[in-house]
Amino acid sequence: MAFRIALGEGREFDSEPGETLLDAAARAGVTLPYSCRSGRCSTCACRITSGDSSALHPETGLTERERANGWVLACVRSATSDLTVEANVLGGLDLAPARIVPCRIEAIAPLAPDVMKVVLRLPPNAVFNYRPGQYVDILAAGNVRRSYSLANAQGPRVELHIRQVEDGVLSAYWFGAAKQNDLLRLNGPLGTFVLREVAGMDLVFLATGTGIAPVKAMLEEIAQLALDARPASVAVFWGGRTQPDLYWDVNAVDAGQRYVPVLSRAGEDWQGARGHVQDVYLAEAPNLARAVVYACGNEAMVRAAETALSAAGLPPRRFRSDAFVASDA
Ligand SMILES: Cc1cc2nc3c(=O)[nH]c(=O)nc-3n(C[C@H](O)[C@H](O)[C@H](O)COP(=O)(O)OP(=O)(O)OC[C@H]3O[C@@H](n4cnc5c(N)ncnc54)[C@H](O)[C@@H]3O)c2cc1C
Ligand code: FES
Repeated sequence: MAFRIALGEGREFDSEPGETLLDAAARAGVTLPYSCRSGRCSTCACRITSGDSSALHPETGLTERERANGWVLACVRSATSDLTVEANVLGGLDLAPARIVPCRIEAIAPLAPDVMKVVLRLPPNAVFNYRPGQYVDILAAGNVRRSYSLANAQGPRVELHIRQVEDGVLSAYWFGAAKQNDLLRLNGPLGTFVLREVAGMDLVFLATGTGIAPVKAMLEEIAQLALDARPASVAVFWGGRTQPDLYWDVNAVDAGQRYVPVLSRAGEDWQGARGHVQDVYLAEAPNLARAVVYACGNEAMVRAAETALSAAGLPPRRFRSDAFVASDA
């Protein structure tokens, strides 16, 4: 027997026993924000105000305090009774459903000592429409599934920027065995980290490492927007430890952006900004009245940026993020 989930403002949908709230919402055409789908990043956090539910996987993305206040993670939470839920429903995104598509490696080459660029070629008849900022899961042998953001705005070829992870199962493949023409499968597009409600706003990207990949795709999208749909300003703060970490020329795409490279372990010859991207941005004492912040990259940066920006007065719905947490096995 299905349970009834009420979201307020007359929005309701059914959820089957054992189904996550995120999947049930998607089935009913209701888009809730999400990223990792494994209970780690907290993008899908929502609040249950009445009814019973259970977590199918640990909700590591929540603090004890949030849990005590009724917050749950829709990607791993399942209803065990009818529920009333407060959630941030994303209207009008019209994201294509994910599907499994075969693909071949068209090119693979290093961008930095620990970053590989992989270009995947999809079959000519494959329908694969995505929004810049979204990601795919690469499906490999042994039920291995790893998430990578799409680094270009439009198919049919898709570009990935892959960081080498120590003892990583797929890292061993990308950096040791992968070669041109290898056959793979991807599942996508996934995620809600896409441009929305940015016309006339001050758009700020905070990225670390390969977190620049979806930012690159979104800059390409902005460069193609009609003038009246464009943000009032675009700033990109990209951080790494040392110069080789900033492996792509951000100004190669012209979205009218201001680019601020930031290094946390720069040598004495570095003339640019030092420290962490969120601190460098806030040190400029920005006017947050029209700011929309997209943060992407390591989890520590995303969490620190959210905390610091919220304390500085940025409304929660104008902070959007994709934390590159470890993928589920
Ligand atoms: C939505 C999303 C988009 C992503 N996009 C990208 C992308 O564009 N480029 C990219 O390089 N990565 C991206 N990632 C991160 C990537 O999916 C993971 O790092 C992945 O687990 C790496 O797979 P692997 O098989 O090499 O290592 P695994 O076998 O998964 O991991 C090996 C060990 O390293 C740890 N680990 C793995 N990744 C991380 C991490 N990111 N942080 C901390 N510990 C980690 C694991 O817990 C494990 O102990 C994304 C993640 C998400 C959720
Ligand atoms: S915690 Fe649910 S999408 Fe990441």
